[in-house]
Amino acid sequence: MAKVLATGGMGYIGSHTVIELIKKGYEVEILDNLYNSKVEVLDKIEQITGVRPKFHEADMLDSEKVDQIFAEGNFTTVIHFAGLKAVGESVEKPLEYYKTNIDGTLNILKAMKENNVKHIIFSSSATVYGDPHQDTCDESLPTGRELTNPYGKTKYMIEEILKDVAYADKDFKVTILRYFNPVGNHESGLIGEDPNGIPNNLMPIIMKVSKGEIPELSVFGDDYDTRDGSCIRDYIHVVDLANGHILAMEKSQPGVSIYNLGTGNGTTVFEMIDAFEKASGEKLPYKVVGRRAGDLPILTANAEKAEKELGWHAERNVEDAMRDTIKFLRG
Ligand code: UD1
Repeated sequence: MAKVLATGGMGYIGSHTVIELIKKGYEVEILDNLYNSKVEVLDKIEQITGVRPKFHEADMLDSEKVDQIFAEGNFTTVIHFAGLKAVGESVEKPLEYYKTNIDGTLNILKAMKENNVKHIIFSSSATVYGDPHQDTCDESLPTGRELTNPYGKTKYMIEEILKDVAYADKDFKVTILRYFNPVGNHESGLIGEDPNGIPNNLMPIIMKVSKGEIPELSVFGDDYDTRDGSCIRDYIHVVDLANGHILAMEKSQPGVSIYNLGTGNGTTVFEMIDAFEKASGEKLPYKVVGRRAGDLPILTANAEKAEKELGWHAERNVEDAMRDTIKFLRG
């Protein structure tokens, strides 16, 4: 049975995946520097699963520490979530983003090589499609074109690095998962998305508005060519996303496999507000402001490849995500 190292396993998507791995009987260790997560997540994982995974509080830029963790870990598989992910911040601090995301990944790959670990699942993003000039993306589209920020470029570059690693070692199994817009949380409401600092994604902002920490949501544009004028995205429940990692891990083949993880359905910003209001019974204050630079009007996944090859599809919808989010919000 696989023994997994989850880098960034204390974060939002990482912690949900760790829970599903433990539930399926996998042994998991976590490497995380708690830059954007809290140590209490470990207690919550234990509360939900009954298992407290081994936690290494370490920075993946500390290559000596990374080597030591690998030397002692006997891992078969790495699920690599760790990295910086704030789009706006990446424009202001490009060097930090390239250093953390690229150097960090190189340290992990070097330790994998030295310890004969030949199986990695990588957290990529639909952002690698740049502006695909179409509303729905499948995995065969070219990547790396018209990327507007260093964060997105690091995701693209890491994909390319992984392809080269798999080319050089034919036993190496690389799975790249391109996430669309993760939302929701574990149905217990014990864990969820809880970023340090000011969030820039829609759901964490909605949560902060609901808590009164941000006065109102700014809707970035209501004049797009969509059914209500606001942008359309493919919001995927994080537990579905977590399960996608496990199926991808179990079905990995030597070489590179790439999958979109999304629902295939689009929801507008106004529909998200509406779904939140219905699920919470609250009014969500918002105002329409100008378009945000770099936003595409519509971006949804073609997730047929994951369905066909992994037997994976999203089982939860935006209403489920809102219900679980409210449970998390209300503690
Ligand atoms: C963004 C990033 C993308 C990254 C992804 C996950 C941009 C242009 N894209 O995607 O590279 O992979 O996050 O981290 O930043 N919205 C509002 N008001 C807000 C926030 C968002 O109206 O305060 C709207 C946006 O216009 C968008 C939708 O909500 O239509 C979702 O936004 P967001 O959560 O930031 O995700 P993406 O823009 O899809």
